Amino acid sequence: MLIINTIAELTKTVEKVKTEGKTIGFVPTMGALHDGHLSLIKRARQENDVVFVSIFVNPVQFNNQDDLIKYPRTLESDVELIGDYADYAFAPSVEEIFPTPPTEKYHFGPVEEVMEGAARPGHFNGVGVIVRRLLDWVQPDKAYFGEKDYQQIAVIRELVRQCDIKSEIVPCPIVREPNGLAMSSRNRRLTPEQFETSANIYRILVESQQLPDVPQIKAFVESEIAKIPAFKLDYFEIADDKTLQTVHSLVDADGVMGFITVYVGEVRLIDNIRYK
Ligand code: PAJ
Repeated sequence: MLIINTIAELTKTVEKVKTEGKTIGFVPTMGALHDGHLSLIKRARQENDVVFVSIFVNPVQFNNQDDLIKYPRTLESDVELIGDYADYAFAPSVEEIFPTPPTEKYHFGPVEEVMEGAARPGHFNGVGVIVRRLLDWVQPDKAYFGEKDYQQIAVIRELVRQCDIKSEIVPCPIVREPNGLAMSSRNRRLTPEQFETSANIYRILVESQQLPDVPQIKAFVESEIAKIPAFKLDYFEIADDKTLQTVHSLVDADGVMGFITVYVGEVRLIDNIRYK
C-alpha cells in the first residue's frame, strides 16, 4: 500500500488508474481504524480493481472542540491494519485540505434536521464539505459507508443527488464487538468497565425488537437505559428508514428503525436497529 499526502499526488494517481481502465472503490475514514472500517475496505477490495482509503480527522465536522482534540490519531497502526487490503491511503494534513476555512453551505433537507443533525449543529455540513471534495478527487465507481452512521448515509445520498456525483453509494452492515457493542473509534476512550456496561445498549435494542409497536418500544428502551447509572440518554428515535422522520406506529412506514445515542461518561455512543 502506498501512502499519499497531497491532493496533487492523489489526483495524479487517480488519473493513472482511470487511464488503465480500472475501477475504483473508495472508503473515507477518520482513522483509528478497527474491524468495522476493515469490513468496508474488504468489501471494496472484492468489488473493485483498485482501493483507495482516506484517513483524515475532518475538523469541520466536529461541533465539539474537546471531541476533536481527543479524537484518537493512530496512523501507524491504521496503515498496518489495512495494508493488505487497500492500494492507496490518502492521509493529508489539515492545511492541505483546508488552506483557508471552507465556505461551502449545503442544505440536505429533512434528513439532516433530525437526530444527529439536530444534536450536532453544523456536523452534516462539515461531512458534506469533506465527502464532496474527496469524491471529486478520487472519482470512485463505488464509495462505501457503514450503517452505524445510518443518517450520514442518507445525507450523503442527498449530497450525491444534489451534486450529480456519479459514484454508487454502498451501505455496509454494522460490525460489533463480541459483547454486542457497535465498533467505534470512540470505544478506545471507554474504561474497561464502561466498555462492558456499554454492551447493554445493543442488548436493550435487541430485546425491544420483541415488542408490538412504537409506544411500547420507546417506553421500554427509555426505562431500561435509565436503569443503568453510567448511561445518560441523549435521544432514542423511531423513524422511517428512508425519510428518517419520526413514526408513531410500525404501520406508518415500509421500513422502521430505532436510533439511539447514549453518553457513557463523556463518550457519546450511537447505535441503531431495524424493527421492520
Ligand atoms: P469514521 O467514523 O472514521 O467512519 C468511517 C466509515 O466507517 C463510516 O462510513 C462509518 O459508518 C464506518 N463505520 C464505523 N464504525 C463502523 C462499524 N462498527 N461497522 C460498520 N461500519 C462502521 O464516518 C466518518 O468517519 C466520517 O464522517 C467521514 C465519512 C470519513 C467524513 O469525514
